[in-house]
Amino acid sequence: MSGEWHKVAPANEIEEDEPKGVEIGGKHIAIFKLGEAFHATDNICPHAFALLSDGFVEDGVIECPLHAAKFDIATGKCLAEPAEDDIATYQVKLEGGDVMVLVPGG
Ligand code: FES
Repeated sequence: MSGEWHKVAPANEIEEDEPKGVEIGGKHIAIFKLGEAFHATDNICPHAFALLSDGFVEDGVIECPLHAAKFDIATGKCLAEPAEDDIATYQVKLEGGDVMVLVPGG
């Protein structure tokens, strides 16, 4: 997949129950930690405008802070209304203690 890796944050700054919202090239992306793994998804809820990084993480699922739509963090799949669309996910890797995200098309 083409794109560019961006350093988003030191891995030790991301807590399991506190996703981190970042903006890369105008894209809002949320970084999650689940166990020892890191994940990245779109940060804007597809239902209305809310930042998912302000929401609640439970069992690998992020709940939107505004109307409680739910998304699977690993796959981006929409699991609960009122949202209907899945959210994009991004590849993540660790490099030198930093979380890197692959943003397509860069
Ligand atoms: S803005 Fe996320 S569920 Fe409405």
